[in-house]
Amino acid sequence: MQRQAFVELSRRLLAHATAGTTDLAATTYSVSVADYADPDRWQAEMDRIFRRVPLVLALAGELPEPGSYKVTWVLGTPVLLTRGDDGAARAFVDVCRHRGAVVTPEGCGRARRHTCPYHGWTYDTNGALVGIPGREGFHELDVASHGLVPLACGERAGLVFACITPGVAIDLDEWLSGYDEVLEPFGMGRWHLVSRREVDGANWKIVYDGYLEGYHFGSLHRDTLFGAFMSNVMAYDAWGPHQRVGFARHGIERLRDKPESEWGDQEGIGLVCTVFPSVSFAFLPAGVLMSQLFPGPTPDRSRTVQSIFWDHEPSEPEQTDIEGIAEMLFGVVRDEDYATGAGIQRALSSGANTEFVFGRNELGLHRFHQTVARLLTSERV
Ligand code: FES
Ligand SMILES: [Fe+2]
Repeated sequence: MQRQAFVELSRRLLAHATAGTTDLAATTYSVSVADYADPDRWQAEMDRIFRRVPLVLALAGELPEPGSYKVTWVLGTPVLLTRGDDGAARAFVDVCRHRGAVVTPEGCGRARRHTCPYHGWTYDTNGALVGIPGREGFHELDVASHGLVPLACGERAGLVFACITPGVAIDLDEWLSGYDEVLEPFGMGRWHLVSRREVDGANWKIVYDGYLEGYHFGSLHRDTLFGAFMSNVMAYDAWGPHQRVGFARHGIERLRDKPESEWGDQEGIGLVCTVFPSVSFAFLPAGVLMSQLFPGPTPDRSRTVQSIFWDHEPSEPEQTDIEGIAEMLFGVVRDEDYATGAGIQRALSSGANTEFVFGRNELGLHRFHQTVARLLTSERV
């Protein structure tokens, strides 16, 4: 974020903290409980959102040089991301064009050739089929049309996006609506992956709701995050479907005693930048916690990959400190946020509620659910 944007956000949150207020929507907003539980609705969300829009599948630091690759599974589709000799990131369905074996297992690495483990067909970083053992057995095969199936892919602000459905084009500029200008100044594209964990969760929207408000800090995170952050003091901003949520830190009042020119970036505030539909960046002093939420395999389940990226290659003692931070944050997410989400999921059919109500102070959830609803009926993303 630009310096001026940090100052403006700090100013807003300082005003809220001083007055005991927060950003508010005009009215409350309710969502039917059936929207979380109905399998047809969930399937529509997968088809019309997750299979149609650009998803953040990596940070550029996971593909640092030509030959770098990453394989990640999204809704049953293995996606191979590569960095070509031209420096461009590309995406492919990681499925062999011979008889459908998964070519490269999940994970990151470096390889100029991707060889299928079944019969050894080999593909290059552009997805081209460059090797067929026993070539004479396939003398009629059109090699040029048997490369890995490409997926629309692009990079903005160090984030690597792809759409998981072959043949579906993406327009990243339109999709981001200027949000890349908010993210670009962080320089995340040059940051290093330093820690990664995974956690299972409930329905993807139950889980994601928790990333979009700080109303729960004082209760659910009373003994953890609430030590650092005020509860229910938020500043919400949106660029298209993407949202930035600012939180006031305890002690933000100290900014009053300093001229704005001396305020540090992120001084007195916490920052979560979400990229619709399912990725969140929580900024740390010298890095970021990226949470990638993957729905499924059934409506009541999801998986979250939590990764920490650092703005430089950490020394060994730093790495030990980072692991401590990672373990602490992971504990909060698993034992507080996701454990609560699992309880909501288990009790969804209890009949206690036909609707969930989002307060005026939960503005981020209004926007999130309105965007989901819009995409279910809209031809445009
Ligand atoms: S399935 Fe990949 S080489 Fe046969
Ligand atoms: Fe939380």
